[in-house]
Amino acid sequence: ADGLNTRAVAAGKEYFGSATNNPELTDTAYVTGLSNTADFGQITPGNAMKWDTIETSRGTFSYTKGDEIASLAKKNGQLLRCHTLVWHSQLPSWVKNGGFDNATLISIMKNHITNEVTHYKGQCHHWDVVNEALNEDGTYRSSVFYDTIGPAYIPIAFAAAAAADPSAKLYYNDYNIESAGAKSTGAQNIVKLIKQYGAKIDGVGLQAHLIVGSTPSQSAQTANINAFVNLGVEVAYTELDIRTTTPATSSAVTQQAQDYASTVAACKAVSKCVGITIWDYTDKYSWIPSVFSGQGAALPWDENLQKKTEVYNAILNAW
Ligand code: XIL
Repeated sequence: ADGLNTRAVAAGKEYFGSATNNPELTDTAYVTGLSNTADFGQITPGNAMKWDTIETSRGTFSYTKGDEIASLAKKNGQLLRCHTLVWHSQLPSWVKNGGFDNATLISIMKNHITNEVTHYKGQCHHWDVVNEALNEDGTYRSSVFYDTIGPAYIPIAFAAAAAADPSAKLYYNDYNIESAGAKSTGAQNIVKLIKQYGAKIDGVGLQAHLIVGSTPSQSAQTANINAFVNLGVEVAYTELDIRTTTPATSSAVTQQAQDYASTVAACKAVSKCVGITIWDYTDKYSWIPSVFSGQGAALPWDENLQKKTEVYNAILNAW
């Protein structure tokens, strides 16, 4: 059947997909929509594979939530993007405030990665190994990992992930790297750093939490994708949503449809842009209103799980 994923695959991409979270999986109408592989050929757990869910105390691993989403993907025949191993946020305080020295934190980080990547070995098409390591000016973000280990924590994390599952594609993932600028350059430098260290990196994830009316143009996005591809990595749009002030006006929705189309067309234009994931598919479960006050309406399905025809068709026809 025709749909967002069917069109993406017809354009030579690996998938069009959506994020999801465990509590939503009791909503049967929602699950039916998510499981429609004409629209979604891939899913990402929005929270279920993060450190604070997986390793709540040192050496104690809980995979129930991650497994629930991994089995849904398997049952539906969808690819799984696994998200995320090393991140400053949603990090338990035993790690963040543990006061560990360099060698101990390296060992804790490697143990976390080895355990989790081994648990999901063979199931993760991609792993977001390191998430959001950069400040807006392209310098390294202060975090317990950076402050204790230095920039080497990044290649060390990639090497540990590669050793645990050699066939998963390993990604660096960040936001505000969807067009040229200091932060995108910083992400390109991370790709170089990992390679210089002799570790493997396969891709860069552009989160793409974008804003209606200030989404970069198609040509700006294509040029940016090419800057990564020229370093020998692939690219994916990993968390796409395009927010606006709520309630959305009809002109905002029209602009949003164009902004989605520009982003899809940018990915379509570069063969090494392998796929696009929206950060859930319906406003009913979007993270935006809880974090960006007064904003939302960011996704192609509304709060009643109805398609926004103008936005949906713009994505469909941009493939
Ligand atoms: C968000 C989730 O969607 C929320 O449910 C959670 O409360 C906070 O995290 N960048 C990322 C994602 O890489 O993991 C974040 O997901 C959104 C920003």
